Amino acid sequence: MNRYKIALLAGDGIGPELMQEAVKVLKAVEARHPDVAFDLKPALFGATAYFETGKSFPEETKQICDEADAILKGTIGLSYEESQKIPVDEQPERGALLPMRRRYNTFANFRPVYLPKALSYFSPLKEEVIGDGIDFVIIRELVGGLYFGEKQTGINEQGKRYVHEVLEYDEDQIRAIAKVAFETAQSRKKVLHSIHKSNVLKSSVLWNEIIGEVGQDYPDVEVKYILVDAAATYLCLNPGQFDVLVMENMFGDILSDQGGGILGSLGLMPSACVGPEKSYYEPSHGSAPDIAGKNVANPYSMIGSVALMLDMSFGMKQESKNLWQAMQAVFAAGYCTPDLAKGKDVKLIHTDAFGDRVVEELNKLPIND
Ligand code: IPM
Ligand code: MN
Repeated sequence: MNRYKIALLAGDGIGPELMQEAVKVLKAVEARHPDVAFDLKPALFGATAYFETGKSFPEETKQICDEADAILKGTIGLSYEESQKIPVDEQPERGALLPMRRRYNTFANFRPVYLPKALSYFSPLKEEVIGDGIDFVIIRELVGGLYFGEKQTGINEQGKRYVHEVLEYDEDQIRAIAKVAFETAQSRKKVLHSIHKSNVLKSSVLWNEIIGEVGQDYPDVEVKYILVDAAATYLCLNPGQFDVLVMENMFGDILSDQGGGILGSLGLMPSACVGPEKSYYEPSHGSAPDIAGKNVANPYSMIGSVALMLDMSFGMKQESKNLWQAMQAVFAAGYCTPDLAKGKDVKLIHTDAFGDRVVEELNKLPIND
């Protein structure tokens, strides 16, 4: 019997309603695999945790996460006005999310940007630009760079307010993410784009140097160096040229949202945040407070995060593929939630019905893990 302990951090906004669908899917997977048991451990995280306990990443949650084999996280954050009720250092991003990334050293963030040809109507790009569909993966370094560098604010000698924020990487950090990227490229089309800004930033000069060094161990992978600003353009003009892209933290934050943009929605962007011992899985999008509680948010990125977890933490590769296929099948049958539909010719269904249909489609597929 394979027993997996999963910490469930539903979070804020649409997080809890998406988490319900993730749990529904996990139970369906469990039912299909008599030798697999998921031990689900809900815990408070984010603004919801702050209002209940005074901490956005409470000790009890840390303990549950420490003991878990993997962490499944919903969404966090509130509207700007609501966040103002929380002290700056306890606001969910600074008080919960970044500390979690640091605690488990989840340095490798995988953000698949995927849209099969049949669903290209979701994308704002023209059909001829999309070609056979969109399929690349952004690998973002997640625990270094500007996000975690030293920060200072104050008054300088001229009496002016100033800020000093450090972008720092050492070669080991770059080497670690480079290896992950090369291995991923090796398992796909063997082309790796290193995204950089080495015409201005010294950090990018070192980045590319290390990419080149690590690349010597992966002679079958072709490396292409592309400036981050040019990459932003080509993601719109010709996304088909990309397969695996690796980049530092801040570039990855920005380009992965652009990835969501070319798919048509961040609602189509699940992600995996992988550390040496523990990984957590989350939608790349925010908590959408404007539609929270309305049962209209699409659970694709949440259920996609479950699919990534099955594959990357539990080695259930085939069931993970089945889950992707099941989700695509629901869209292909013409169903969609209102948040993604935006005037398209689809059959509108709610969040929970979308989850039900994913389970239905999953159960049509053979169990061969
Ligand atoms: C993301 C998010 C986070 C980030 C925020 C919520 C701190 O935008 O995961 O991309 O900037 O990393
Ligand atoms: Mn982001």
